[in-house]
Amino acid sequence: MNTDRTLTPQFMAALCDIVGAADVVTDADQRSGYEVDWTGRFHGATPAVVRPADTAQVAAIVALCRHEGVALVAQGGNTGLVAGGVPMAGELIVSLRRMDTVGEVDASARQITVGAGATLAAVRDAAAAAGLAYAIDLGARDTATIGGNIATNAGGLNLIRYGGTRDQLVGVEAVLGTGQTISHLGGLIKDNTGYHLPSLLCGSEGTLGIITAARLRLVASHDHRVTALLAFDDVGTAVEAVSRLRERLDALESAELVLDAGVRLVCDAFDLRPPFAEAHPAYVLIEVADSHDPTDEVSTAVGGLTSMRDAAVATDQTQRALLWRYREDHTLALNTLGKPHKLDVTLPIDRLAEFIDTVPDVVHGVVPHGRTWLFGHVGDGNIHVNISGVDADDESGDDAVLAYVASLGGSISAEHGIGTAKKRWLHLSRSIEEIDAMRAIKRALDPDNILNPNALLP
Ligand code: FAD
Ligand code: MLT
Ligand code: ZN
Repeated sequence: MNTDRTLTPQFMAALCDIVGAADVVTDADQRSGYEVDWTGRFHGATPAVVRPADTAQVAAIVALCRHEGVALVAQGGNTGLVAGGVPMAGELIVSLRRMDTVGEVDASARQITVGAGATLAAVRDAAAAAGLAYAIDLGARDTATIGGNIATNAGGLNLIRYGGTRDQLVGVEAVLGTGQTISHLGGLIKDNTGYHLPSLLCGSEGTLGIITAARLRLVASHDHRVTALLAFDDVGTAVEAVSRLRERLDALESAELVLDAGVRLVCDAFDLRPPFAEAHPAYVLIEVADSHDPTDEVSTAVGGLTSMRDAAVATDQTQRALLWRYREDHTLALNTLGKPHKLDVTLPIDRLAEFIDTVPDVVHGVVPHGRTWLFGHVGDGNIHVNISGVDADDESGDDAVLAYVASLGGSISAEHGIGTAKKRWLHLSRSIEEIDAMRAIKRALDPDNILNPNALLP
């Protein structure tokens, strides 16, 4: 496998023949944004970024790479958080961003076909313009692409109601490592004709195929929204409150946990006023969306939470957006502290509060100078653990946290994936037999190991 960053002139000329010389980027300045991840922690290097315009060009690139034994990494918006889309071992980058077609909404089927390079925001906007909605939403919506969302099986802010990206996927088109193109975009929702290849490609992190297009399910648009930030004395009562709210609010779309330290960090970083006159240890941000005004249901459900200490409720778009900033701006605020070690784990719900209360001590025990930050999709049992103040290559805190997660029966990756950053811990969540099965699938669909060979599988 050629990952030594020196590609022959003949290979480069062949790439130019496929996509045109203007879309084979070799200039160091133009390449640089593709070579480093969103956090700035992971730097790679690539001989070139190639930017195909259509599926036939992707297929020709893969065939050429297979023939020449050149490794490649597919890249969408480069917002991934596990160094899976950056060329950590000198791979060629195939950027899908030019393939950003957003098709017509099929209102009767409630579906849409889009190019892999379409941004999540563009797909959400297209659905909204047709009076529908695309269920996935996440903070990187303006940059993350549908191809990247599928490759990582992105979760996001609405998973408790609609499921993750895999649940929205009706069909995909992709170029496999063999160079063959598979396309199943007909939109049939009942189609039991063998292995469900869209599900297999979803979450495969660019290791089995390059996704070029997708057929996506749309959902009803709920225009009446209530957002509320609820304050609690501790994490345990906050987590318990989410369970109660899930029972009482069918239209609950998001349930996100933030802690006092994180809210203070966001307020300091972006000059925001604190949400309440008095600070509280833990907060839950909820959003309820329905076809009628759900304010009364929210008031009744929230009013029944005896452990709640304060609440800020908003229906107006501007006020709702402000409440969301206390949650969504965590990622940006943490980047102001340096290059955080980002962990993204799921715990069984009944171990979640214990984990959140204990994990800062677990980190402190191995990296006393490190600081632990916790926030996330508490309704899904998914908590983001960020460690700041630690050298980029000191992974002793990561080690300790992920071992602790495994001891509680959790997963070492809830939604960000494995990439290159987490693969040495894959065995904590997957058995040898499962990893062997994944390797067998990889060999079948990418026999020469050219697609993202350094990601996912140890
Ligand atoms: P990239 O970063 O470009 O690539 C990610 C992986 O997918 C790589 O392995 C790459 O090789 C592969 N890939 C990309 N495109 C293709 C393709 N067309 N075919 C095959 N493989 C491909 N993630 C969540 O799950 N939930 C969140 O709530 C969330 N919030 C975020 C908020 C912020 C502010 C940021 C910066 C990130 C967040 N993320 C979240 C992580 C990230 O946005 C998602 O992983 C997203 O799905 C990545 O999409 P992308 O287009 O940027 O992919
Ligand atoms: C989030 O939920 O905000 C994202 O997954 C990003 C992060 O973990 O920082
Ligand atoms: Zn998240």
